[in-house]
Amino acid sequence: MERKWWKEAVVYQIYPRSFMDSNGDGVGDINGIISKLDYLKELGVDVVWLCPIYRSPNDDNGYDISDYQDIMEEFGTMEDFDRMLQGMHDRGIRLVMDLVVNHTSDEHPWFIESRSSKDSPYRDYYFWREGKDGKEPNNWVSCFSGSAWKYDETTDMYYLHLFSSKQPDLNWDNPAVRKDVFSMMNWWCEKGIDGFRMDVISMISKKPGLPDGKLQPGAVYADPGCVNGPHVHEYLQEMNREVLSHYDLMTVGECAGVTIEEAKKYAGADGKELSMVFQFEHIDLNDGDYGKWTDRRVDLKSFRQVMSKWQTELEGKAWNSLFLCNHDQPRAVSRFGNDSPAFRETSAKMLATCLHMMQGTPYVYQGEELGMTNCPFGSLDEVRDIESLNAFRDLTSSGAIAPEDMMRYIRLRGRDNARTPMQWDDSENAGFTTGTPWIMVNPNYKEINAEAQRKDPDSVFHYYRKLIALRKQEPVMVYGSYELLEKDSERLYVYTRTLGQEKLLVICNFTDQETDYAIPGEFAQGTILIGNQNRESVKGTIRLLPYEALVLKKG
Ligand code: GLC
Ligand code: CA
Repeated sequence: MERKWWKEAVVYQIYPRSFMDSNGDGVGDINGIISKLDYLKELGVDVVWLCPIYRSPNDDNGYDISDYQDIMEEFGTMEDFDRMLQGMHDRGIRLVMDLVVNHTSDEHPWFIESRSSKDSPYRDYYFWREGKDGKEPNNWVSCFSGSAWKYDETTDMYYLHLFSSKQPDLNWDNPAVRKDVFSMMNWWCEKGIDGFRMDVISMISKKPGLPDGKLQPGAVYADPGCVNGPHVHEYLQEMNREVLSHYDLMTVGECAGVTIEEAKKYAGADGKELSMVFQFEHIDLNDGDYGKWTDRRVDLKSFRQVMSKWQTELEGKAWNSLFLCNHDQPRAVSRFGNDSPAFRETSAKMLATCLHMMQGTPYVYQGEELGMTNCPFGSLDEVRDIESLNAFRDLTSSGAIAPEDMMRYIRLRGRDNARTPMQWDDSENAGFTTGTPWIMVNPNYKEINAEAQRKDPDSVFHYYRKLIALRKQEPVMVYGSYELLEKDSERLYVYTRTLGQEKLLVICNFTDQETDYAIPGEFAQGTILIGNQNRESVKGTIRLLPYEALVLKKG
């Protein structure tokens, strides 16, 4: 397998609005990030993926961009950005920028022009269609609820928005759009950034003719079926030729709806498109009748089956990205582990072990390295996320879900769980701001915060540090091949990694029950590489503690 720096790296994701506020306005900013670069260095991460910091009216917290080549006022200036980039590079940390080009803001000059008249040279930068029988041009649903079309009086036509109505979709079939996007990307590359995380990139090629989707019984709108469209690979290969191949970049595509076969194209080892993709199969496992709005839990068997499938089927053909949470997801320990005080730290460490020992590039989402948990939002007033707010409005007004149930689902699955301020210390507002934070601070910050964990060698933070450092010493963690053991266990996730003579055995107890496990003979002389209990040695059959994780290296 070809060695690449981005295969050996660990990525840390920053959601700037909630990371660190430097000027007391309650909103995180670039100078706040600069003040925490030493913290990232201490953790040992190699790459930062920075969520959007571009100029934006913030309908979707920066995922609605009105100027790709300027910085959001609340976050700082281009000079601040340059200093941050330099500060990262000085510490050996690379910077991956969020690239949001499936859509722009409706306040982007291209859209303002496009909307102004049917004859505008920018008209075809977006999708404009006539209404049908006084209704929307087709039945597509927006990812943020309701129709994916918005009527615009100026020209008496509708425009397409797969997300909020302030996020009109760009028409990638128009070569001028591609040219402008590529030249913007080249501009950032010339500045010295190290890669792109590509927002909903699997949706850029729409179905020709924009046909109606298949209506589910009782539904008003249908899934547009816009993922992995007919020209998506062609456009990404063009992007690769025009931009990516000229620099040494790491690229990761956010690919909702990606299958194994598609992933091999997006992130193929031939390097024609991207370095890797985010797939969402393990994330979607606990969806229910109303998508994410449910209290279903992920069961170990399906989780293990899905993870193993991606591990084995991409091996040697494409590269995995490994993540359990991000800014769109609830907190990993609350979702996949156990966030009760008794098991929070142990299960957070277990999940980290299970993930970082797999083949692929691991992503740590801010606060995950502290075992930060979901937030007990009291009422809708405390919720900020457009997705949750729209879904609450639509699903409760139609009577589909009772308001108190919906609020409970938001506490379990809403995106704001990931967006509460980073918990730096036990001072007011968790040390995030001296002002009023834009979103509530999780009340558990006195128990869970970076300062306390940096002082405690047994903390989740130091466990992540150790895992990240191990990756640098053990090539088998990066390049070893994966094999699943104990395929039917109700409690354990056990697998091996093998590279030449090197072999690791990874044992994770996903339950709050003690469980016996017989160590395979070939590991009888093995040593403990890392574990979340204070074991000195292991032999024969061991009794694993609740949420125990243990990695043995063959002797
Ligand atoms: C991606 C982002 C999400 C955003 C959406 C629209 O899924 O991760 O935060 O709301 O795209 O840009
Ligand atoms: Ca600020």
